Amino acid sequence: MRDRKGTKSPDADSANARSASQRSSRRPPRPPAVGKRRRAQTGCCNCSLGVFLLLAFALVCISLVGFIFYKPWIFLARTPTPIPRPLTPFPGKLVSDLPQFQGDYRERMFWGTYRSVLYLGIRARTPKSLLAGLMWLGVKDNRYSLRHTCEEGDKLTRYAWVRHDGATYGRQEIIDQGLAITTSFMKHEDPKSGYGGDWAVRVAVAEKKRHKEGEQIKTPRQVSLFFYIADEAGSSLKISGGNGKFAAGTANEVGGWELHVKNQETSSASFVGLRCKHTHNLTQLVWQVLEKQARTQGRIELPNAAEKSSNFAAIQVTGVAPLSFDVVFVSGTEKHTVEASERVKNLSGVNLTKRLTEREEMFEKRFQSTFHLQDKVKGEREVEVGRVALSNLLGSIGYFYGQSLIAIPPEYQDSETKDGDVWKYWPAALYTAVPSRSFFPRGFLWDEGFHQLLVSRWDRKMSKEIIAHWFDLLNIDGWIPREQILGDEARSKVPDAFVKQHTSNANPPALFMAIHKLATAFEIEKSLGLPNEEDRVFFERLYPRLEAWFRWFNTSQTGKETSSYYWHGRNAQTKRELNPTTLMSGLDDYPRASHPTDDERHLDLRCWMALAAQSLAKLASIVDAPNEVYVATAAQLTDLDLLNKLHYDAGSGRYLDYGLHTEKVELQRKNFVDPQTGFMQTEVERVVLKPPELGWVPHYGYNSLFPLLMGLLPLDSPMFANQMELLRNETNLWTTFGLRSLATTSSLYMKHNTEHDAPYWRGPVWMNINYLVLSALDHCSKVDGQHSSKCSETYSQLRAHLIRNVVKRYHESGYLWEQYDNANKGKGKGSHPFTGWTSLILLIMSDSY
Ligand SMILES: *[C@@H]1O[C@H](CO)[C@@H](O)[C@H](O)[C@H]1NC(C)=O
Ligand SMILES: *[C@@H]1O[C@H](CO)[C@@H](O)[C@H](O)[C@H]1NC(C)=O
Ligand SMILES: *[C@@H]1O[C@H](CO)[C@@H](O)[C@H](O)[C@H]1NC(C)=O
Ligand SMILES: *[C@@H]1O[C@H](CO)[C@@H](O)[C@H](O)[C@H]1NC(C)=O
Ligand SMILES: *[C@@H]1O[C@H](CO)[C@@H](O)[C@H](O)[C@H]1NC(C)=O
Repeated sequence: MRDRKGTKSPDADSANARSASQRSSRRPPRPPAVGKRRRAQTGCCNCSLGVFLLLAFALVCISLVGFIFYKPWIFLARTPTPIPRPLTPFPGKLVSDLPQFQGDYRERMFWGTYRSVLYLGIRARTPKSLLAGLMWLGVKDNRYSLRHTCEEGDKLTRYAWVRHDGATYGRQEIIDQGLAITTSFMKHEDPKSGYGGDWAVRVAVAEKKRHKEGEQIKTPRQVSLFFYIADEAGSSLKISGGNGKFAAGTANEVGGWELHVKNQETSSASFVGLRCKHTHNLTQLVWQVLEKQARTQGRIELPNAAEKSSNFAAIQVTGVAPLSFDVVFVSGTEKHTVEASERVKNLSGVNLTKRLTEREEMFEKRFQSTFHLQDKVKGEREVEVGRVALSNLLGSIGYFYGQSLIAIPPEYQDSETKDGDVWKYWPAALYTAVPSRSFFPRGFLWDEGFHQLLVSRWDRKMSKEIIAHWFDLLNIDGWIPREQILGDEARSKVPDAFVKQHTSNANPPALFMAIHKLATAFEIEKSLGLPNEEDRVFFERLYPRLEAWFRWFNTSQTGKETSSYYWHGRNAQTKRELNPTTLMSGLDDYPRASHPTDDERHLDLRCWMALAAQSLAKLASIVDAPNEVYVATAAQLTDLDLLNKLHYDAGSGRYLDYGLHTEKVELQRKNFVDPQTGFMQTEVERVVLKPPELGWVPHYGYNSLFPLLMGLLPLDSPMFANQMELLRNETNLWTTFGLRSLATTSSLYMKHNTEHDAPYWRGPVWMNINYLVLSALDHCSKVDGQHSSKCSETYSQLRAHLIRNVVKRYHESGYLWEQYDNANKGKGKGSHPFTGWTSLILLIMSDSY
């Protein structure tokens, strides 16, 4: 009935990857070719003229035949320039190509609010999609500005998807300078729709009461909103403008489509159509039109004109709040023109109101039956934070398409390699959750492991598909780029210094937590006689990739001592940092050995490896693969004596890193004469006041908790009891806002790492680690034994602290935050809204681990 062609052709992808690597690879031509040509030339000098002519004639003939029959351009295109190994995809079928992610499922997930970086942005999960989005006119620094991409600088009072199911329905509340803007999104599948179905958006604006009860709002406010649609593939649109059918066209996969806008009579509408070559900055595109209009017409109003072959169309709705308008997208219109207008009626006005209400009720039912918060938290204030945490996590899920930029590894550099040179990873799609729409609107490898703990609870298939996309980015060596900056929208938010990914750098294999959880669920269902065949097939396809991933860690991140590991790639040369960061660990500035060397042993990484080996041992048995090597490796990594030998400081009773370290370092301000300007300058530099020695790195904090978090401490061991005492101590990690990241007794507690880098993992409270602590406590409180009551008491207190603070700060500030202050009032810190792992507060509320 409908066009169901897949988005991806793996062959096309790898062909693109090849040509990309040819462009950017700066390796010299292969030496054998050069050598051969030279030999041929010297040989020719000795030839007689006759032989030469004969040969020349033969050569011409052969070339002619070759030209006709073999098409030399094809031959040329096939000249094998090898793809550098790090840019070679893992050989094997893509996990995201599994039939369970195709067919009806793929179609159901086709459209969505997948443009994470926008306040409201809609696209399809296909590389070149139609892009729809909302902008509105706001004020920034006393000047008009367009709200479009989520910016902390816009200083919105709050914004979040307060309801969102990740697939078919969402409602967002935005409060901006006294205006309450509600955006609702819903999808609707009609038998007559084209591929992916229809969708509708309602934008409603009301004046938020800025005055005291009873007092009248003096000047009704004029508001101006813009809704646009653009074709990334460049196809031109038919723009009719005005109320009703606003724009129409034909798009990849979708076929014929129409976009209808229904605004009220109290508002006016104007439009513009533009031809744009790229879609990097649509804010700018619209802004330039408005500026010109303001200059020439004295009005900030679109000109009611369209350029030839416009592939971008925007409509501006202007009026006095309260006002609202509906946007309806209908597809498959080439076949069913008459029904299309009926479908529009069904998806707008009171009919839309009714449908939105139904969806809202469905969301609520599903939310309650999934998390059961009504029996677990105090009241509606808490429950609402739970809904928002989930909804904004799901509503921020994005679909990205593009190529990561890879720093050329030293072994591939040569005299021709220039500073700015990069490689491009193969073009690929990534469907993923994101930590924060304003600050981190793209995929982050270790964050995703935490996100999926919650997503899988809501929708297992969605979670599996996200995991599938991540593992499809694995290269032949078993490496996955840590930060995924795919496509213009993702790129627009990343400072240049952070764009390049390093093939030697790791990031915690936290996705194993999510996979472990899925595997456990599978085993339970199987033991009940209900094995989930789709899950089994998923694990089967995923398994070789997980093995490669494990192998990459197990070979590239090892330490000197047997069974020890460290995060490779710390900067041992820097003089700018008080303690060289370890971005690969995810705990960025968490203090490690002051002097990075290959003697280091990093506790957290070794514990992650224990989790990974255990997960692989479990999965091997699910997919009937030999598991001995994982069982053996897991046994080694969970062996308490070995763990203690490598990481336990018996003197202090703490689990620690080991390395070349001194506590006596400080940042000092130094004067120097700038050789270029001749002026005196000051610079902050690290000074080592006492030489480092090999030994324990005495910083107690989140890193020290990993043996507990990963379940490596037997409950009857003396270490277990002691770890509990340590974390409960208020001088160490215990606060009434949750566990802080670094003990107050650490020499680097709340210390800046450079003149400008404020403490990040050196004190503040982070939800992801607190969640893991609760998970460990929950486990030990359920095992009969000497600690169960202590565990359960600690569990309840920590849980209560976290919930109380996050809920309080949400209602007070309007946001969920990246971190929370570990002292004073526990205020939210860092980027916001942050509904990445901070959303785990919902699992905490619902006691699910
Ligand atoms: C996009 O354009 C706007 C308005 O001109 C500008 O403020 C913004 O910095 C641009 N963004 C990017 C990523 O270039
Ligand atoms: C409109 O909605 C009604 C009720 O849901 C349905 O019966 C009808 O078929 C729909 N009409 C179209 C054209 O989709
Ligand atoms: C609601 O949908 C029905 C068709 O199901 C249509 O006849 C009616 O006009 C619609 N109402 C509005 C207000 O659009
Ligand atoms: C991991 O590396 C260790 C040390 O080289 C080795 O003994 C072990 O077999 C490896 N494990 C796996 C699963 O490859
Ligand atoms: C808490 O830790 C501090 C610093 O390590 C120590 O001096 C104090 O005795 C501990 N308090 C308790 C109650 O154990």
